[in-house]
Amino acid sequence: RKKVTIEALRAMKEEKTPITMLTAYDYPSALACSSNPLVDITLIGDSLAQVCLGYKSTTELSLSEMIHHTRAVARGTTHPFLVADMPFGSYQISGEDTARNAVKLIQEGRVEALKLEGGSEIRDTVRKLTGMGIPVMAHVGLLPQRHVSMSGYKVQGKDVNSARRIISDALALEEAGAFSVVLEAIPKELAAYVTKRLQIPTIGIGAGPHTDGQVLVWDDMMGTWAGHKAKFVRRFGDLKAERDSAIQKYAEAVKLRTFPDHSESYTIDKMTWEEISR
Ligand code: KIV
Ligand code: NA
Repeated sequence: RKKVTIEALRAMKEEKTPITMLTAYDYPSALACSSNPLVDITLIGDSLAQVCLGYKSTTELSLSEMIHHTRAVARGTTHPFLVADMPFGSYQISGEDTARNAVKLIQEGRVEALKLEGGSEIRDTVRKLTGMGIPVMAHVGLLPQRHVSMSGYKVQGKDVNSARRIISDALALEEAGAFSVVLEAIPKELAAYVTKRLQIPTIGIGAGPHTDGQVLVWDDMMGTWAGHKAKFVRRFGDLKAERDSAIQKYAEAVKLRTFPDHSESYTIDKMTWEEISR
């Protein structure tokens, strides 16, 4: 498949072709995303903080840790449009710091676009980056990087003020030049409305079926994540069962000395061995 572009994503919205986005955190998961022509966007989500690095929240992830992962994903990526999350703290300090960190993530991390969590309050940041020619994907609704100030990972936009705020945030970010927006954990009616109001594609996670696209975290989708399963997660695979059974079989075979067998072992010429062991 040809490289996916921002223009192609916009056309998919117009043609009502759903956009598939999936996270990847390393070379093999990037190759897997790239091996399927139906995957449009690969996201190096800062969810890697939890699912790959064992941190409690995405706020613990540094820019250099993110870059370490994006480089690996970039090496395995072909056609999907490649987006990375800007880690918490890398786009809040000052305009200068934000610009420097964004350039670093693009140049060293080798991604094509950056995703930033936040509403109207980050419009100037989004405008600054898009003005530099860096494509920005916005992210509104539930903002995991703000789980403490939001008092947990909760559905957003359930009351009048919160819903109106999400609508105006999405419009402000589109106006600031974002090429797409992620809608996380909001009522499906609100997501449908935002999707209709925006020219740019919306990508939902816990936002119902009426967004322009969907995204899931790799480990949730594969069924390898044993932790909390959000309402919006569907496990399309059961790789945890498969993985654990493989570990069990391997460990048993080692303990029983049934692994390795003759065919899995190297041998030396008999005469040579006699000479050595004489
Ligand atoms: O970090 C992440 O994986 C994300 C997506 C789930 C949208 O931000
Ligand atoms: Na994220």
